[in-house]
Amino acid sequence: MTMARITAGISTSHVPAIGAAIDHGDTGQDYWKPLFQGYEWTRTWLDRNRPDVVVLVYNDHASAFSLETIPTFALGCAATFEPADEGFGPRPVPTVHGHPELAWHLAESLILDEFDLTLMNRLDVDHGLTVPLSLMFGSPDAWPVRVIPLAVNVIQYPPPTGNRCWTLGEAIGRAVRAYDEDLDVQIWGTGGMSHQLQGPRAGLINTPFDTAFLDRLTSDPQALRRIPHLEYLRDAGSEGIELVMWLIMRGALGADVRELHRHYHVPASNTAVGHIVLEAREAAATPEGSS
Ligand code: DHB
Ligand code: FE
Repeated sequence: MTMARITAGISTSHVPAIGAAIDHGDTGQDYWKPLFQGYEWTRTWLDRNRPDVVVLVYNDHASAFSLETIPTFALGCAATFEPADEGFGPRPVPTVHGHPELAWHLAESLILDEFDLTLMNRLDVDHGLTVPLSLMFGSPDAWPVRVIPLAVNVIQYPPPTGNRCWTLGEAIGRAVRAYDEDLDVQIWGTGGMSHQLQGPRAGLINTPFDTAFLDRLTSDPQALRRIPHLEYLRDAGSEGIELVMWLIMRGALGADVRELHRHYHVPASNTAVGHIVLEAREAAATPEGSS
């Protein structure tokens, strides 16, 4: 019996100005060129390593949810997800197609595993989800993968802890590997890196913090689980807390990962942009007795 597997994790910042640069054809401009060049390796790699499904961990920025309803973890179970109107109209990108069968399997598995998710049968998706898709796939007529959105509250205090995100990631990994279909699944974590959009510290960027975070995804991931909210706030700025979503990605990959690619660029808008591709070594290993 061939089961689904998590093959790799991809993380990237999801700055809205990056989406606007793509949509307006500005990616070749001097300001943007070095940023987009850092994604070319991944786009080529994805041509050869295209998953069937991406579990895409992101946060909504008051587009689908207002402050009236704040789910900590919301899983997209619908067949399709429309780009959200973020104030300037929806981005001109394709409708996102989900994978309801796998999404409902995840819902059942995770809730029975004691993660009390909110289940979304309708969910409009904002730059948090569409900008990473554009960075990896450009501007196609249709997205080449199915996407299961997982929206995480990092907007309204209190967001989930890094450790809770990690354990949710581990549970997602278990659930995917227990799904009885021959599917390649990637998990993407978005947001970050250090940035603060408001208040006296607006524009804060902390490259040493970001570099250490990228290093520790492979060298010392257990330490990342223990970073408290206050440390994110102090060292990575008020919106740096988005980085807890990278820990859902990392937790799902298992103990043994290999870094395939990294890109770090400052600034895009007011933000430090980070991007990493991690291979899940357990999936890469040849199962005993095969061949
Ligand atoms: C900006 C918004 C974001 O959601 C983010 O993650 C980074 C930057 C911005 O408005 O510049
Ligand atoms: Fe954001």
